[in-house]
Amino acid sequence: MLNSITLLSVACFMTDQTVSSWRRRLGHPRGRDLSPVALVTLRALLGDERQQPSLRQRDQLLEHLHAIQDAHGHLSMVELRALATYMNLPMAAVYETATFYAHFDVVHDGQTPPPDTTVRVCDSLSCQLAGAAQLKAKLEKGLDPETVRVLRAPCMGRCDSAPVVEVGHHHVQFATAEGVEAVVDTGHFQPEAIIWQRLEAYQQAGGYQLLADCRGGGASALTHLWRRWTKQA
Ligand code: FES
Repeated sequence: MLNSITLLSVACFMTDQTVSSWRRRLGHPRGRDLSPVALVTLRALLGDERQQPSLRQRDQLLEHLHAIQDAHGHLSMVELRALATYMNLPMAAVYETATFYAHFDVVHDGQTPPPDTTVRVCDSLSCQLAGAAQLKAKLEKGLDPETVRVLRAPCMGRCDSAPVVEVGHHHVQFATAEGVEAVVDTGHFQPEAIIWQRLEAYQQAGGYQLLADCRGGGASALTHLWRRWTKQA
């Protein structure tokens, strides 16, 4: 009888902190509980980390966040919790990374996910000078906010073709409102494949020849450049 009374009194005076510290000692993760369904869904998307331990490596975090964002259009807190367990990382590390980058949309519990399509208008210097503000205003007027959201974005590294707009992952160069709307209608949101010149092909075409000559002592850099220039002139 005394024991039951003692236990009851202890239970009454237990605070949230006491419970959570007991849970930690008992091996429970901190914070909200993990959804087992979310973990199964994550394994279906990213692969089974129990079979492939490399999937747990910390440098995979961004890859995984991209994969979830691309698959579901946003990152829910349920998915972030599942990812923390999947990678055996603290939830704070996953949340911090997900909220640092503008391209990830973290949706908190109870929040409405963003529309399916995102249009990002670059508003850094070159694009500003090329009319980015007016373009953004036109797009906000012309596109349906239920299905498309229009956001500002920093430089996209294509300043020579300003103004630049990104629809999903597809860059529209020298963008106009009509051109962007046409891309939204076609649903072509993936980036264009880039055909890179391989190193071997570059070297076969004379690439790094000057460097090789200088290193070999056959010609001074200036002599070589002079010969080249007079040949071309
Ligand atoms: S300023 Fe817009 S792409 Fe660089």
